[in-house]
Amino acid sequence: MTSKIRIGIIGSGGIARMHVNAYRQMENVEIVGVADIVPDRASQFIATHHLNQAHAYEDHLVLLEQELDGVSICTPNVSHYQTTMDALAAGKNVLLEKPMSVTLQESVEMVEMSKKSGKMLSIGFQPRYDPNMQFIRNYIQDGNLGKIYYVEVGGGRRRGMPQGTFIRKELAGAGALADIGCYSLDLALHTLGHPKPLTVSATVSNHFGTNPKYHPEADNFNVEDFGAALIRLEGGITLQFKTAWAMHMDTLGATRFLGTDAGMKITPYGEGPWSGVWDGGVGTITKYHDIGGRLTHTPIPCVRSDLNLFDEKVKDFVHAVANGLPAPISGEQIILNQAIIDGIFRSSELGKEVDIVLP
Ligand SMILES: NC(=O)c1ccc[n+]([C@@H]2O[C@H](COP(=O)([O-])OP(=O)(O)OC[C@H]3O[C@@H](n4cnc5c(N)ncnc54)[C@H](O)[C@@H]3O)[C@@H](O)[C@H]2O)c1
Repeated sequence: MTSKIRIGIIGSGGIARMHVNAYRQMENVEIVGVADIVPDRASQFIATHHLNQAHAYEDHLVLLEQELDGVSICTPNVSHYQTTMDALAAGKNVLLEKPMSVTLQESVEMVEMSKKSGKMLSIGFQPRYDPNMQFIRNYIQDGNLGKIYYVEVGGGRRRGMPQGTFIRKELAGAGALADIGCYSLDLALHTLGHPKPLTVSATVSNHFGTNPKYHPEADNFNVEDFGAALIRLEGGITLQFKTAWAMHMDTLGATRFLGTDAGMKITPYGEGPWSGVWDGGVGTITKYHDIGGRLTHTPIPCVRSDLNLFDEKVKDFVHAVANGLPAPISGEQIILNQAIIDGIFRSSELGKEVDIVLP
């Protein structure tokens, strides 16, 4: 009998549940430990999910002393850096929840540690597993639109501000950008093949979260609920980005890729206060092109699948661990995402365009 893949979980809150649900579907996986800094929380989590083989820890370092093939890191954003560094240093493969980190410097060090340890660092951007997102990426990567020179991404919720750890800078590091904006950026960067960002001109604000009329925890709210940016990417590509947790508007519009041979418009799926294609919510895909000099457009059917994207990302991580493959969504790719977010905050604070300097 082949031995099972031994998994540990660090942080046993909301998203850890999704990881456990996925791991439990895999016969070759055993969850051997759960760590959470809040006393008793890990043991309660183990009991709730009937993880009978698992041990509970308060200190993730003690969990990391165990024999593990991989860990899921499901802590609030500010703890991503230290827990990931410790896990990699302990020789464990890491599946880290998004966003990668709070600062660009942290992301850089995490990738360096991954290389030094020879262990993989994969970041949990589950929309990458959405069949429509995959179609868009593959179709554009195959050159079907010609050279892409302009991209517009982002999305917003009319009202969709979270509470708790997400709205406090001390825990989340950032607000809407870290929560949903990073997905939009990943859609653009992954589709384009990860071009380097060069400059950013941006603003962020929080007109809703800090107003008791709109948020029950307005006094604790100290992150941004809106961000907009113009980003220059290498290869002469302009990226326009916007994200909103709340706004007086139905939608922030479609995602658009403009190419020299054709364009593509992607509209969000469904109606209502949560609109955007950042999370795999692709409603329509339309290609704009010429036929014999005549301007036309072609609707491209969307696939409606019941694939659970969370399950897919966890399964892909396990597959990579089991077969010694590279990280499915590598830290090296996501550094570029973090660099843009870093640039957005710097530019907003300075009130001018800033350069992005990558190591
Ligand atoms: N991929 C997605 O769609 C998605 C969705 C929700 C949240 N997330 C991400 O998951 C992460 C966690 O979010 P959540 O909603 O589960 O938060 P949560 O607050 O529900 O849970 C976090 C848990 O981590 C524990 N914790 C904090 N610091 C720790 C440490 N150093 N060691 C061990 N445990 C620690 C907390 O006590 C808490 O139980 C965030 O980074 C968030 O951005 C991703």
